[in-house]
Amino acid sequence: MDYETLIVEKREAVGIVTLNRPQALNALNSTLLKELRHILTSFSADDSIGAVVITGSPKAFAAGADIKDMQSLDFVDVYLGDFLGGWDEVAASRKPIIAAVSGFALGGGCELAMMCDFIIASDSAKFGQPEITLGIIPGMGGSQRLTRAVGKAKAMDLVLTGRMMDAAEAERAGLVSRIVPQERLMDEALEAASTIAKLSRASVLMAKESINRSFEVSLSEGLRFERRLFQSLFATQDQKEGMVAFVEKRKPAFQNR
Ligand code: CAA
Repeated sequence: MDYETLIVEKREAVGIVTLNRPQALNALNSTLLKELRHILTSFSADDSIGAVVITGSPKAFAAGADIKDMQSLDFVDVYLGDFLGGWDEVAASRKPIIAAVSGFALGGGCELAMMCDFIIASDSAKFGQPEITLGIIPGMGGSQRLTRAVGKAKAMDLVLTGRMMDAAEAERAGLVSRIVPQERLMDEALEAASTIAKLSRASVLMAKESINRSFEVSLSEGLRFERRLFQSLFATQDQKEGMVAFVEKRKPAFQNR
């Protein structure tokens, strides 16, 4: 498929999606959502892909939902059309996704980064939820995922004032896992994605599922869930291979079986 708003590449076992609406700082419109869902579904079904990196441009990861498209919508349009509802599918992607963020990650852009499994930021990254300055609130998970990531005080500060935080503040707050110089951003993200893609696929998917479960259930239920997944991995050949390789002092050759 030809994409109008994305550049899609495969590098070994890593799928790379570059948001590509430079004229609008990668503002997220319905075409971009449709195309992103399409490529993530296709990466999910592609056994040769073990991890995905989503990135933008040096100036903007994404500056939010497309305000020019939204300005004339009314309640009935957005309610009956389930406006923004389709983003849940992006968040539900089973394979690991790393957000490589440079420049602005605002509104829906920050929310898209938070739908990914972790965020590697360049030192130029700026995060924020400025929806309040437009007379609305975050609509793609900002009030929920940001609060879980950085806690109530900072989430309230950011969502109620609409201010931006720089990469250093975002890392201190726990939103970002690593900060790297701008020129190292893609190398760092691709190295992390490639490391993940070489591991046993079942253990990677279960690790992601288990961490995400912790946001939904009590500690005792989460621990039970984790233990069952942990035990189930002993049914895989990759568990034998991983442990035998350790004992034999060699690198494991995982077969995804
Ligand atoms: N939607 C549509 N177009 C956008 C956009 C957006 N979110 N953000 C930037 N653009 C466009 C600008 O309109 C401009 O286009 P023109 O050249 O045609 O005028 C172009 O991108 C470049 O932007 P600026 O000239 O504004 O660039 P700047 O460097 O001066 O400022 C910025 C950068 C601070 C990010 C500023 O563009 C900005 O504040 N953008 C909007 C950020 C925002 O409010 N995001 C939240 C959107 S609502 C949302 O996301 C809801 C949700 O929860 C899903």
